[in-house]
Amino acid sequence: MFGLVLIVGRCSFLTPPGVFMRVLDLGCGSGRDLIPWGVAPSDKVTGLDIDGSRLPIARMNFPARNFVCGVGESLPFKDQSFDCVISGVALPYMNIPKAVSEIHRILVPGGTLSLSLHLPGFTAAELLHQAIPRPIPTLFRLYVMANGIFFHYTGNTVGFLKGRTESFQTQRGMTIALARAGFEKVSFSRTAAATGKAFAVTAAKPTRTRMAAAA
Ligand SMILES: C[S@@+](CC[C@H](N)C(=O)[O-])C[C@H]1O[C@@H](n2cnc3c(N)ncnc32)[C@H](O)[C@@H]1O
Repeated sequence: MFGLVLIVGRCSFLTPPGVFMRVLDLGCGSGRDLIPWGVAPSDKVTGLDIDGSRLPIARMNFPARNFVCGVGESLPFKDQSFDCVISGVALPYMNIPKAVSEIHRILVPGGTLSLSLHLPGFTAAELLHQAIPRPIPTLFRLYVMANGIFFHYTGNTVGFLKGRTESFQTQRGMTIALARAGFEKVSFSRTAAATGKAFAVTAAKPTRTRMAAAA
C-alpha cells in the first residue's frame, strides 16, 4: 500500500539498457509490484522472508524472481552481492542494528537502500484500536511503544518474548542506526504523512574511494 506512493527509492533510475541491478526485497512477504520502488522488469530480484509460508504465493505471483526463506539479521548472501536493497515495512519487525549491518555487508560500494518504516502513529493506532482492552495485546503494544522510544534515543532495539521484535522508527533513531552501520546520504520523506503512520528512508553505502578516504 505504502510502496505504491514510494517513489523515492529508485534502484534502476537511469540504468542503461542491457544492464540490470541485483535487488534484494527484504521481508518480501507474498511479493509485490516493485516498479514504484524504481525496480525495472529486467532487474534480478531476490525476495527474502522469515515466513516460509508466504513464499509459494510469492513464487506464483512473480515466477521470474528468486525467493529465499531467511532472517534479515543474518542474511544468507555473500558480501557485496546486491546493488540495491528495498524493504517495505519489514524492518519494524527486526533487530534494526543487526539488519542494517547485514544490509551494509551485502551491498556493493555505492549500493543503495530504500525502506518504508512505521511512525509512532502506527503503534499508537494499533494500541488504541487493536489491543486495548485485551491484556496481552495491550502489553505487547506497550512494549512496541517503549522499544520505539528506546530506538529513537539509541538507534538500538530490544526483543520481546521468544525473540519477537517490533518497534516504531523515527528520523533520529534511523540516522543513528544507519550512520553506525556505515551508511551515508541518508534522506527521509513522508509521502504517506496524511496517515501519520509511515515514512520512507533512503541511504547509500559509500563508494570505494569514499571508504578509503574515511579509513
Ligand atoms: C508488513 S509485512 C510487509 C511485506 C511486504 N514487504 C509488503 O510490503 O507487502 C512484513 C514482512 O516482514 C517479514 N519479517 C518480519 N521479521 C522478519 C525478519 N526478522 N527477517 C525477515 N523477514 C521478516 C514478515 O514475515 C512479513 O512478511
